[in-house]
Amino acid sequence: MLKIFRTKSIADMVVNSEKTELTRSLTYIDLIFMGVGVIVGTGIFVFTGIGAAQFAGPALMLSFVISGVTCAFAALAYAELASMVPIAGSAYTYTYAVLGELVAWIVGWALVLEYSIAAAAVASGWSQYVVSIFGTFLFAIPEYLQKTPADGGTINLPAVLLVLILTFILYRGTKESAKITRILVIIKLAVVFVFIALAAPYIKVANWDPFMPFGMKGVITGASFAFFAYLGFDLIANASEECKNPKRDLPIGILGSLVVVTILYIVVTAIMTGVLPYSQLNTGAPITTVLDSIGYRFGSALLGCGIIFGLTAVVLVLLYSQTRLFLAMARDGLLPVSIAQIHPKYKSPSLLTAITGVLIAFVVGFVQLEVLAELVNIGTLFAFIAASVGVLILRIKNPEFHRPFKCPFPYVIMPLAILSCGFLVINLRKETWQFFIVWVVIGLIIYFGYGRQHSKIGNKE
Ligand code: ALA
Repeated sequence: MLKIFRTKSIADMVVNSEKTELTRSLTYIDLIFMGVGVIVGTGIFVFTGIGAAQFAGPALMLSFVISGVTCAFAALAYAELASMVPIAGSAYTYTYAVLGELVAWIVGWALVLEYSIAAAAVASGWSQYVVSIFGTFLFAIPEYLQKTPADGGTINLPAVLLVLILTFILYRGTKESAKITRILVIIKLAVVFVFIALAAPYIKVANWDPFMPFGMKGVITGASFAFFAYLGFDLIANASEECKNPKRDLPIGILGSLVVVTILYIVVTAIMTGVLPYSQLNTGAPITTVLDSIGYRFGSALLGCGIIFGLTAVVLVLLYSQTRLFLAMARDGLLPVSIAQIHPKYKSPSLLTAITGVLIAFVVGFVQLEVLAELVNIGTLFAFIAASVGVLILRIKNPEFHRPFKCPFPYVIMPLAILSCGFLVINLRKETWQFFIVWVVIGLIIYFGYGRQHSKIGNKE
């Protein structure tokens, strides 16, 4: 067998996962909580305004449905794989077992785009709310310190500081970060429900007409954009070694959190576009804009602060996931194991965390939010396609494996997942594609220059 196609054995992985040293304490309620915690973020708090004003109008609700359905197909793939191979590493690990090392490396490399660049994108959205709240209550942050060069500034300093502070927290270990995340998620959900309660009575049905001012094309562009808002349900699979009953709870956690956020997104979009005409929503802080417009200035400031905390949780979980993905890759020998040392006192992969944080801080300081979001989407869609292909191959090659959760009608749903993700990929801009190709080429150079020779399973052979 060609070295680059060597695979990890699923049976070995399952045995190893049962021997995990991590504590199995999470239930499916925790998983749904965690899922909603990482999913709800910039997508709904920042992009909805721009999405409605520039792409889809009130029909952004429909864009959310289309993206939600695409994610549901992919979520079924993740649910089947995660219940079957309940170990950390998500799509990277599944691919390693099914499609071999080279494809796994490329998927892992694409996941770096998902986790790292999403962390940068959410930090960038976070900074828009910070700038807006500072401007209203304290002092205006000078343009050159709050915008990237492409937006007419020099550096997005608030976002850089956020990433560095969170990196420091993660450097000090996960115990504290888990506690902080919980509190931040509660604040974030409270923001969504308070917004719904305050703004819903002010909906004017007339604002939903015209419903589709930019036609179906706008709705589809909106869907590619809205996809970002769903991102994160796949991260739940990373917690598999810490679940009490992963085979039952992972599918419930993945699908359950997706259902919850889809409902929340459609309701919030309906309210935003119902309270204000879509053309007035062209802002990076639409929640506060809507509340200001109905005279809730205090409520607006309060929710603005809540959003700042809520988005902090998303950045924290994404940064955490990135460090754990690199850790999995380093343990497999595809990255230098020396960078994955666990800090003797803090019990975190400290060097890896520091390197990751500094790189992401650099990206967020200088790259525009929209560009970041598209890069995240292409990386994630690529991983979703790989996971769906993986389900199909395993069904054909290893029908005997025990599958605690089985995707219904896999030979229909998985091709639909591949097609719908492929459709969203095609709708991304040419520049995003070009960047992705360069990214994959860099990944291939690293693999052939390092990973192939140092791979653990390669050295066992
Ligand atoms: N889904 C996450 C967000 O919207 C990444 O911020």
